[in-house]
Amino acid sequence: MAKIIDGKAVSAQVKESIAQETAQIKEKYGVTIGLAVVIVGNNPASRIYVNNKKKACEAVGFESFEYALPEETTQEELLTLIDKLNNDDKVNGILVQLPLPKHLDEKIVINNISPDKDVDAFHPVNVGKIMIGDYSFLPCTPAGVMELIASTGTEISGKECVVVGRSNIVGKPMSMLLLHKSGTVTICHSRTKDLAEQCRRADILVAAVGVPNLIKGDMIKEGAVVIDVGMNRLDNGKLCGDVEFETAEKVAGYITPVPGGVGPMTIAMLMKNTLTAAKTKLGI
Ligand code: GUN
Repeated sequence: MAKIIDGKAVSAQVKESIAQETAQIKEKYGVTIGLAVVIVGNNPASRIYVNNKKKACEAVGFESFEYALPEETTQEELLTLIDKLNNDDKVNGILVQLPLPKHLDEKIVINNISPDKDVDAFHPVNVGKIMIGDYSFLPCTPAGVMELIASTGTEISGKECVVVGRSNIVGKPMSMLLLHKSGTVTICHSRTKDLAEQCRRADILVAAVGVPNLIKGDMIKEGAVVIDVGMNRLDNGKLCGDVEFETAEKVAGYITPVPGGVGPMTIAMLMKNTLTAAKTKLGI
């Protein structure tokens, strides 16, 4: 039976250490650290994520500035706000919650966030830095996954790592972080010929496709570390991951639950990036 990786506990440790460092910075430099969160429209899932981000800011001692804009906000209005936040000394990090309403161009919006305040690490400059291993900001969800793998004491170097999913937010940067730790990385996606066979080779398996219960126990190697980034809402209202937990936990060595696995880590890493932005600005 797999050991459960407790994302809530690991994220609480990370946030505790951020809170301590934030308090020290406040005392020594007399400054507060601020995160601006921009949400456009009424997507209910986005609303929950944004509320959780605000709560995390409070928990670590950051100021949070929320900008809840109406659905009909124009591209120009949104870019004007971003420009203002780029130039606001009290704002160390800027996060524009995705997805944006269809009439807004996400690419243009992300490109207009100052790379120094891009705590999601979505700006092409930061994405490029991730590619060459010269990180300013680590992409939040993949960085959280790396912390969870580390919490199991598993060495990545030389291991077979299989990432299922090739999104810009998770799959691609996840693969880079594992590669930089000298894992042998395979990226699988919807056109992969035999997904089960690829997954069965994995010592470390990361699922990030958004397909409920895609990965079953018989696709998992005995003793593997299984990280489930999926967060899918079923018709009955329940949340489930991309991994079928009941069958997978019988085979895996370690496994993350959904919820309570990767989710809390993503937010903790966002706090870490905001702290990094503030420290870089202070030259520490
Ligand atoms: N929407 C879903 N995940 C994320 C994320 O990590 N950052 C932002 N900005 N939007 C998201």
